[in-house]
Amino acid sequence: MSKILVTGGTGYIGSHTVVELHNAGYEVIIVDNLSNSNIKILDQLEKITGKRFEFVELDLQDASAVDAFAKQNQDLSGIIHFAAYKAVGESVAQPLKYYKNNFYSLINLLTAYPAANFVFSSSCTVYGQPDTLPVTEDSPVKKAESPYGNTKQIAEEILQETAKVTPGLNVIALRYFNPVGAHKTALIGELPNGVPQNLIPFITQSAIGKRGPIQVFGDDYDTPDGSAVRDYIHVVDLAKAHVAAVRRLADGKVDGYDVFNLGTGKGSSVLEIINAFEQSTGEKLNYKIAPRREGDVEKTYGDVTKSKNILGWQTELDLNEMMRSAWEWEKNIKDNPF
Ligand code: NAD
Ligand code: WQD
Repeated sequence: MSKILVTGGTGYIGSHTVVELHNAGYEVIIVDNLSNSNIKILDQLEKITGKRFEFVELDLQDASAVDAFAKQNQDLSGIIHFAAYKAVGESVAQPLKYYKNNFYSLINLLTAYPAANFVFSSSCTVYGQPDTLPVTEDSPVKKAESPYGNTKQIAEEILQETAKVTPGLNVIALRYFNPVGAHKTALIGELPNGVPQNLIPFITQSAIGKRGPIQVFGDDYDTPDGSAVRDYIHVVDLAKAHVAAVRRLADGKVDGYDVFNLGTGKGSSVLEIINAFEQSTGEKLNYKIAPRREGDVEKTYGDVTKSKNILGWQTELDLNEMMRSAWEWEKNIKDNPF
């Protein structure tokens, strides 16, 4: 059976991907240092799949630990590298924390596994505010607004340059738009630290009474209703794209490096999201208009033609399912806190 190493596999996107890899017949080994996730996710994954996944608690910043792990685990058919810090605001306040973790982890892995089928978690943040929409993979990468965004841009360059000169290293970078929602069992989902900075977790926490009214950051953008537009994608659809990427690499179809957008191809405004949540869940939200948030782009959404045609992947779950599953998850963790 093909075995995939999933770094950051107890995290939000990683845990959903572990489930989809298992469903597709892959064996999985998870590495995580639990800096932003909970060990009990392994129990949740077992409830969903009936499988106790192999787990190694390890900090990928520790080169000798990564080398030792690699010596014991040479039989991999692919690596999916989720592990990173991801909070944009925190990265502005603590740039070195982000540069250290996001670069050391990547470099240590590539050093320990010089020849690998490697899937990397990148982000639509590399495009900044695109000049034309929808944004394709060929659109220019803009100067990053934050150290976090910079780590994704530079990591893509590290991977591309290394793959070019390293036989056996083949890489797919996946640029996610805005991942939201949770598994349909409500057993895994996003576990934000402190006050959520992202829209959907703030909405669900506000709806459940953990937070006050939602602030809509800006209603004077050049968009149909004035609020900012994003391409929200269900985390389970996103997870399935990783299975497609691993397959493509294993089939030998990637010559060094390739990059794909992962989104729905459709933009939704903040006010549309608030409305979709109310419609899908029957919950009434309190919100108020607030000033624009510094560093935010006005509108972005992805052209996903390349992913459809080449990865053979497309989204299946709509906004309704994104909102409904996020809400079921929020209610479940209220009753069964981690
Ligand atoms: P997450 O924080 O839920 O998961 C990341 C996991 O990596 C966590 O479990 C954390 O404990 C682990 N980790 C971090 N540093 C580590 C280290 N040094 N060693 C071992 N484990 C470590 O985040 P997520 O939302 O699942 O994101 C996964 C990846 O996708 C990240 O690379 C993120 O930058 C990228 N991404 C996320 C989004 C998003 O909106 N969630 C969007 C675009 C890209
Ligand atoms: C979405 C929209 C906000 C909270 C971030 C990262 C990006 C990527 C995904 C990792 C925006 C508005 C939000 C709130 C609001 N992550 N909003 N009130 O900013 O598109 O992207 O996560 O790679 O790099 O920057 O996502 O969910 O924070 O915001 O009005 O309380 O919701 O202004 O327009 P964003 P988000």
